[in-house]
Amino acid sequence: MPKHTIAVLEGDGIGPELIREAVKVLRAIESRSGVHFDLQYAPFGGRAYFDTGASFPEETKAVCDACDAILKGPIGLSLEDSRKIPVEEQPERGALLPLRQRYHTYANFRPVYLPPELIHFSPLRPDRIQGGIDIIMIRELVGGLYFGEKEHGETQEGLRYVKETLEYDESEIRNIVQVAFEEARKRRSILHSVHKSNVLMSSVLWNDIVFELAQHYPDVQLKHIIVDAAAAALVLNPQQFDVMVMENMFGDILSDLGGGILGSLGLMPSACVGIQKSYYEPSHGSAPDIAGKGIANPYSMIGSVALMLEKSFGMEEESRQIWNAMRQVFGAGFTTSDLRDPEGKLKIISTSDFGDRVVSALQS
Ligand code: IPM
Ligand code: MN
Repeated sequence: MPKHTIAVLEGDGIGPELIREAVKVLRAIESRSGVHFDLQYAPFGGRAYFDTGASFPEETKAVCDACDAILKGPIGLSLEDSRKIPVEEQPERGALLPLRQRYHTYANFRPVYLPPELIHFSPLRPDRIQGGIDIIMIRELVGGLYFGEKEHGETQEGLRYVKETLEYDESEIRNIVQVAFEEARKRRSILHSVHKSNVLMSSVLWNDIVFELAQHYPDVQLKHIIVDAAAAALVLNPQQFDVMVMENMFGDILSDLGGGILGSLGLMPSACVGIQKSYYEPSHGSAPDIAGKGIANPYSMIGSVALMLEKSFGMEEESRQIWNAMRQVFGAGFTTSDLRDPEGKLKIISTSDFGDRVVSALQS
């Protein structure tokens, strides 16, 4: 029987309750596919810091090193709790960024996907999104401002200052843009390259590389769009987009805008793909304010499982079945109370009921 080992990092806040539903779905896939998933739970994030003294403990690194893929819940603490931890051990800087760096997960896929069954969640006018939205944002994940050199101190005049650097070499740009061209080819063959070359030299180099690579993809319709204009266009006419590619910081911001046009960050799963290993996580935070209440929708976590099956294990059919099962549950009028319900017509169910219904839909 084929077997895959998965490191499961539950994370903080709503992380454990979302992971529980994702694991239910994995087990359901296991019993129908005959593929065995060996799940190795390991501590990661703010809770790990309080329990073990490290937010990315050595033991967790060893588990992750040895597995085939990593399924990770959201991490992060309330501002009050975060301030109890040294800045460099806070879960974002102490765990998440080191995880991305360790496995060099340079290609971050963030689907901004709104099939017809979910359309009522979007705050956009129905006539602008008829038939739905289907975008893949591809974000460079291990370079740019996030990982550039930093310094801070005091100027000669005694003013506190900070300096952060945005650095890319051509191979880093080429790698991510190539991923995007390949992805566009598999889809509707429209690629928007997002840049800010009217101001940033990093975008001038970005565009040079994009033009060079475009020679090899004459079948892909390439469009160039400045990042601020892209933000407006996403709200005004999201249906024009198919694949979008951008550097790290732009991708952080535009992908949350993507969640905004869907109606919730809770509808944003993601895949963080490296050459050797990939990990899968929701794009959103740990929502400490609603943790433990059973009201958080597990779509982003279950969607991350679907992405894992597709990208790490080549189980494309099973992945499609998961997306369809979730569409079916929403299509039957169910929701959790964290998602938007503008007309008050939806049937509110709990986090675990949502997971159960996805599993039944899978089995039917
Ligand atoms: C994301 C998150 C992270 C990021 C944070 C938690 C460091 O916002 O995955 O988009 O900024 O990349
Ligand atoms: Mn973000």
